[in-house]
Amino acid sequence: MTYAIEAQGLTKRFGKTQALSGVDLTVEEGRVLGVLGPNGAGKTTTVRILATLLAPDEGTARVAGHDVVHEAKQVRRSIGLTGQYASVDEDLTGVQNLVMIGRLLDLSSRDAKARATELLAEFDLTDAGTRLVKTYSGGMRRRLDLAASLIGRPAVVYLDEPTTGLDPAKRDDVWDMVRALTAQGTTVLLTTQYLEEADALADEITVIDHGRVIAHDTARGLKQQVGGQTLEVRPLDLADLPAVREVLARIGSRDPEQPATDLLSVPVADDTALTSVVAELASRGIRVSELGLRLPSLDEVFYSLTGQKQADDQQEEEAA
Ligand SMILES: Nc1ncnc2c1ncn2[C@@H]1O[C@H](COP(=O)(O)OP(=O)(O)O)[C@@H](O)[C@H]1O
Ligand SMILES: [Mg+2]
Repeated sequence: MTYAIEAQGLTKRFGKTQALSGVDLTVEEGRVLGVLGPNGAGKTTTVRILATLLAPDEGTARVAGHDVVHEAKQVRRSIGLTGQYASVDEDLTGVQNLVMIGRLLDLSSRDAKARATELLAEFDLTDAGTRLVKTYSGGMRRRLDLAASLIGRPAVVYLDEPTTGLDPAKRDDVWDMVRALTAQGTTVLLTTQYLEEADALADEITVIDHGRVIAHDTARGLKQQVGGQTLEVRPLDLADLPAVREVLARIGSRDPEQPATDLLSVPVADDTALTSVVAELASRGIRVSELGLRLPSLDEVFYSLTGQKQADDQQEEEAA
């Protein structure tokens, strides 16, 4: 197995803030790794280290076979980076931006222009290419940013929260683009705060929180770890809440929770639970105003994973 990205024990401290406390991650060639975590988890710091923009305090990382500290130049030739903080110049046109980056990458003027034209077409920006970037919409800017990162045909691309702040339609555009990229065999490391996004785009997901990896799995595996789906029931009559609680307690993998005064929820392993709950409620004559299954939210994933981790740590301490 060949890894395009291989990081071990990355730590990084900024003054009093321990941004990373030993992050390990690997991405096989041609695969997409989703790095999932809330604000401040250490996603951008990890990406910056892997992009040679920041040296780790401890730990090592190799990208496309090269060490990010000792072979930074070779690493930079292998990667494309689109940041939370866009790299394109507002006062240039789309074409000018791409040509300039091509020139910086040592392409001839002619090759840089050809590559710019090709990428603008690929990202549906041909017509906008001659306009100044400051007139672009948010979605167009993300697309240009992504195009800019691909000029040197990198083997590895980092996408740091590529859809944060975009509306759903533009987010879908970016998703399509990421899929096109991976169809060409590019290795992608994508950071996100949304489980749904990692689910849609990534082969595997590394969950980080407070600078540590708290889980690594496929999206499916993660959801199973946290109890698959959540079943929610809102009885029509508040007096039925205790009875509903009883029904849910029998079916769920944890005690039911009460997210609102008239709503009960419980994690369930699969959708067969829905049928049993409907049957049980009907047989007791309980009427409901709302009943449904939904996927766990990122909050629930974190809650469950961090809760699990604390329990594991405690067990380890007790065993020691
Ligand atoms: N240049 C910096 N100086 C000081 N603190 C920083 C710097 N960069 C990141 N941090 C801190 O490190 C932690 C991780 O940040 P970051 O990697 O940006 O997280 P994420 O991208 O997951 O939101 C945060 O607490 C952040 O405030
Ligand atoms: Mg970030």
